[in-house]
Amino acid sequence: MKVLGLESSCDETGIAIFDTKTGQMKHRLYSQIERHREYGGVVPELASRDHVIKAAPMIGELLGEIGGVDEIDTIAYTRGPGLIGALMVGASIARGLAWALEKPVLGIHHMEGHLLAPLLEDNPPEFPFVALLVSGGHTMLVEACGIGNYHILGESLDDAVGEAFDKTAKLLDLPYPGGPLLAALADKVATSRFKFPRPMTNRPGLDFSFSGLKTAALNIVHQHSPLDENLRTEIAFAFQHAVVDTLRIKCRRALDQTGYSRLVIAGGVGANRKLRQVLRQMAQERGAQVFFPAPEYCTDNGAMIAYAGALRLSAGECDNNVFDVLPRWSIEELGEVPDGSF
Ligand code: KG4
Ligand code: ZN
Repeated sequence: MKVLGLESSCDETGIAIFDTKTGQMKHRLYSQIERHREYGGVVPELASRDHVIKAAPMIGELLGEIGGVDEIDTIAYTRGPGLIGALMVGASIARGLAWALEKPVLGIHHMEGHLLAPLLEDNPPEFPFVALLVSGGHTMLVEACGIGNYHILGESLDDAVGEAFDKTAKLLDLPYPGGPLLAALADKVATSRFKFPRPMTNRPGLDFSFSGLKTAALNIVHQHSPLDENLRTEIAFAFQHAVVDTLRIKCRRALDQTGYSRLVIAGGVGANRKLRQVLRQMAQERGAQVFFPAPEYCTDNGAMIAYAGALRLSAGECDNNVFDVLPRWSIEELGEVPDGSF
């Protein structure tokens, strides 16, 4: 079965075609970052308009590579969570195509796409596992017992990790989205005169809070302005160190609580080099395994939607008669897929 996947929940248009027989994935990604940069964040209306402009030509280009639209058997798109206008564009295109081609279509949960992306790698994790989902909009620890069988163990009570990275980067005058740039700055040094708190680690539980770290950075910036290069680098280091340390403590606690020995990391912040290194080391120390998606599948992409769609559509799911998008949608509401094979 060949599945066309379409991701449009935020500021990336992602198109992919996954062939369940061969395991081959073809994908294209268009990032709107340049368009939003001058506003310092994503402007929802601009995001929707850009998806309208880019999605159809990108689909056409990818279909050209596999011999045309008739090769497609099923279609999957991001139904939520995300920006309502951006989601509507993807849903309209996917459903229009499905209607014209008379093919099954299915709306996919964006965070399930992220969570399942590590299954695309060689030596994928087996269920059950603990998943740390860290993106620009979400931060959560999930107990994954099977495809669609998810329990949230803890989540951020305020800012998502990626959001905290981006806001702190802005304080350091880095352009949007500053997360990867802040990380690059932090990686230049091995120590800092500043020490940020590890929020909510000295009490039980698996919830997170990251807005205090941004405030800690703001206070230091106010005290030391104008910032020279050394100060900026040291603030970046202290911030990243605190975030990574907090995530390490909570991941270890989640493994202890569940008794599982597999940890999966997914979402944009999963591309962070320091986070990967520290979680690998933590897992090794306790005899656990840690799994990451390829860096290209950490941030938003169409491949993860095509793949999650393939698993669900193969199991017979489709929702051709429903037309809606779900800007807010808990991952716990998903139904379990009985068999994870194609
Ligand atoms: O998963 P994603 O592409 O989009 C959402 O679903 O939100 O995640 C984007 C987030 C942004 O906040 C970005 O700054 C952050 O991931 N990010 C990083 C890194 N790469 C992306 N944060 C820290 N270090 C990185 N290397
Ligand atoms: Zn995402």
